[in-house]
Amino acid sequence: MSEVAKFACDGHELEFPVVEGSEKERAIDISQLRKQTGLITIDEGYVNTGSTRSAITFLNGEEGVLRYRGYAIEELAENCDFIEVAYLLIYGELPTQQQLDTFRSSIASHTKLQDGVPAFFDHFQKDAHPMSMLASVVSALATFNQDSLDPTDAAQIESSILSLMGNLPTVAAHGHSKITGAALNHADSELSYCENFLHMMFSKSGKEYKANPLFVKALNLLLIVHADHEQNCSTSTVRMVGSANANLYASIAAGVGALSGPSHGGANEAVVNMLYQIQADGGDVEKYVKKAKDKEDGFRLMGFGHRVYKNFDPRANIIKAACDELLEDLNLDDPLFDIAQRLAKVALEDEYFIKRNLYPNVDFYSGVIYRAMGIPVEMFTVLFAIGRLPGWISHWKEMHESPTMRICRPRQVYTGANSRQFASIDKRG
Ligand code: CMC
Repeated sequence: MSEVAKFACDGHELEFPVVEGSEKERAIDISQLRKQTGLITIDEGYVNTGSTRSAITFLNGEEGVLRYRGYAIEELAENCDFIEVAYLLIYGELPTQQQLDTFRSSIASHTKLQDGVPAFFDHFQKDAHPMSMLASVVSALATFNQDSLDPTDAAQIESSILSLMGNLPTVAAHGHSKITGAALNHADSELSYCENFLHMMFSKSGKEYKANPLFVKALNLLLIVHADHEQNCSTSTVRMVGSANANLYASIAAGVGALSGPSHGGANEAVVNMLYQIQADGGDVEKYVKKAKDKEDGFRLMGFGHRVYKNFDPRANIIKAACDELLEDLNLDDPLFDIAQRLAKVALEDEYFIKRNLYPNVDFYSGVIYRAMGIPVEMFTVLFAIGRLPGWISHWKEMHESPTMRICRPRQVYTGANSRQFASIDKRG
């Protein structure tokens, strides 16, 4: 007999099925709770709430395990390129050489933006944040692709996937050009995904540009480790918006908005700004660890802590090693990296951080790598978005392929005023 969880409430004994995932994670299925009792559950921040069943990414926060479609992140980071990982996430299996070649060339054929899209950038403010530009333009892409908006049509979904995968780096490069004033280079479909992105950002007209292979390798790695992270805030947003049958562009634009927050993807930018601040303030890392512990202060160590990882973030380990290697290969001595290392050491030995299981997360070191590549700090979260795109797509697609898909519509416990008499404006105050 399958396992049940028993509850007593209002004098009734209630039984709910316990469901088990393929990694033996267990959950109580409370979908009949309200029907049976009139009660709902409340779980602010969804700390204990499983919003869906998903076969894409497994993570175990206690043991620091992260796998995409069953493959360890360490193995994928070591052996794959980002497009291969994107294929794995979106279609469920590692591609054959032929599938990979076709996927790669289909994406490459969508790197040029449609006429009219680049003009959006003429109208943004020079100091606009690239994440705001990205969210706006991704949303606008729906108006240029009106023949691929039907979320129930497999061919249209496929077309929107390829257009987003191809367009996103180009849109990002336009944002870079807008904030730096650097000339924008047209996409080169002969180059790999990462090489092409660096070319669009950094080629100088009239000069031959060959992306530094160390940068290509580092970028590829960063995109892979960011590619998916199960039901995180932005992915849940993409699913939430998609559950209303909104098109893929609208859903991804909403995900970009969620990712921009400093508690989520925006942390990579916030980390480097924090390191600058510590540097400008004399480099006293103890002072900032003390500030982070002071509940009156409101300051948090950016790049520290994670909702799920309570031992270590496996992505941070991969990135820290890549960061060490890149700085050594480039013979760069970045003072911010030194501050980051000292800060991590002090925090990791501090009782406050130990007790709360706060460790450096994926965003703690990524900014140092982006800096070494010459990428401006405002662009860091945009790079996270390029990495996360296949994850968002795969979750949106999985949800639409599920026979049990329903609109996401949480309930609430109302705490406002009880029914009261309306007062006309002359009788108020
Ligand atoms: N610095 C100082 N104290 C912290 C920090 C921090 N970075 N993070 C958590 N805490 C404390 C928090 O004050 C609380 O203490 P207490 O129990 O005394 O009230 C305790 O640790 C638990 O924190 P929480 O806010 O309840 O944890 P959460 O799971 O709701 O938040 C988090 C997770 C990532 C938003 C949070 O750790 C944080 O704000 N970190 C800094 C921002 C950051 O680096 N975000 C990137 C996350 S990784 C990239 C991604 O996947 O999005």
